[in-house]
Amino acid sequence: MENLRVYGGSRLYGEITTGGAKNAAVAIIPAALLVDGVCTIENVPDIRDVNLILKMLSYLGAKITYPAENTVTIDSSTVSTYRAPYDLASRMRASYYLLGALLGRFGKAEVALPGGCNFGERPIDLHEKGFRALGAEVETKRGQVTASADCLHGASVYLDTVSVGATINIMLAAVRANGRTVIENAAKEPHIVDLANFLNAMGAHIRGAGTDVIRIVGVERLSGGTYAIIPDQIEAGTFMIAAAAAGGDVLVKNVIPRHMESLTSKLEEMGVNVEEYDDSIRIKRDSPLRPIRVKTMPYPGFPTDLQPQIVALLSIANGTSMVTEDVWENRFQYVGELKRLGADITIQGQTALIRGVPSLYGAPVKATDLRAGAAMIIAALVADGVTTIGEPIHIDRGYERIETRLSKIGARIERVYITNG
Ligand code: UD1
Repeated sequence: MENLRVYGGSRLYGEITTGGAKNAAVAIIPAALLVDGVCTIENVPDIRDVNLILKMLSYLGAKITYPAENTVTIDSSTVSTYRAPYDLASRMRASYYLLGALLGRFGKAEVALPGGCNFGERPIDLHEKGFRALGAEVETKRGQVTASADCLHGASVYLDTVSVGATINIMLAAVRANGRTVIENAAKEPHIVDLANFLNAMGAHIRGAGTDVIRIVGVERLSGGTYAIIPDQIEAGTFMIAAAAAGGDVLVKNVIPRHMESLTSKLEEMGVNVEEYDDSIRIKRDSPLRPIRVKTMPYPGFPTDLQPQIVALLSIANGTSMVTEDVWENRFQYVGELKRLGADITIQGQTALIRGVPSLYGAPVKATDLRAGAAMIIAALVADGVTTIGEPIHIDRGYERIETRLSKIGARIERVYITNG
């Protein structure tokens, strides 16, 4: 059995570099299905979710090569099927992007209902609404979503809820459709802008990504090219929070500081020293943390994907904090694990009441999902004694060689293999 073992109590010093954005990579890789030439994609993180989506493209018939570290080339001219492999697709959330991409390429797509982290109901009704507006028929049967259209055409789509996935999927389906598509109440996350920049670099006509109205004029074909993925907002945030928790002085490199503003302002409110440079952020802390209130929201609000990590940090603040989860209905499942480490947290509906404790203590815990796993690492870094984190496979979905990189800034963390019996 694989575990991460963390010896708590070390302060963190030095430099750590953020990798390419997972959520941009898992959208841009399927988008390569819409491109006629070869796409060279740089700054691709070597993480499980990305490797899974690459495997799916390869299964569909795309030619994939790895010419350098964190660089991938995709030639999808050899893809001839619109049916995604059920087993692989059902394992990850982002497999739903194959629906938009295959629909845009072939006018047809068959993809399993997506898997991924389980934090409540994760409907795809808005994705379907978008595909239907573009002229597709959509059906879900036996765990499989099928979409087909004789001719995809541009349309106006209003998203009742701000949805990252639906915004991306509609962009993918619309980019080669006939005519003009307008997505209103679109999500504005950095990876939506990154996908639009990638598609535009390949010849698409997308305007307004990063605002709540995205306008797409369909083009006949996209041609290949080279594109580098943006740094991962959530990974950078995880490192910033880890440094704030453990104390010390850490420079997080390869960051877009503008993407970090919601977190930066909260850390400053807590008394953490945050210095912004062009493409890096320095975190220093040597005084106690003040309690704060946080509410998760779509970008540019505080990201739900940093909620477990900030809760871990607040569990050692000097007073009581409140964190309200406003994106997912059930994203506090990991709190039971944090409590094993001595955190004092009560959940009231969508709000966690966190009474800061002077110190946490090491214990065996589990990574219940990707970001919950990151929260366990953060708590373990400050806990007295040894923490073992089970099921690190969840962490590997989104963080490349996490133990190696954190070790370089002074964390005492290692991957261990324990045999039962
Ligand atoms: C993406 C991220 C995930 C992050 C989330 C919110 C990826 C691969 N995953 O997930 O890490 O936590 O954004 O920032 O990028 N909704 C509907 N109907 C839909 C779609 C969504 O009602 O058809 C609701 C959801 O239930 C949720 C909210 O909209 O309450 C936001 O979901 P969405 O932005 O779509 O999240 P994902 O794209 O799945």
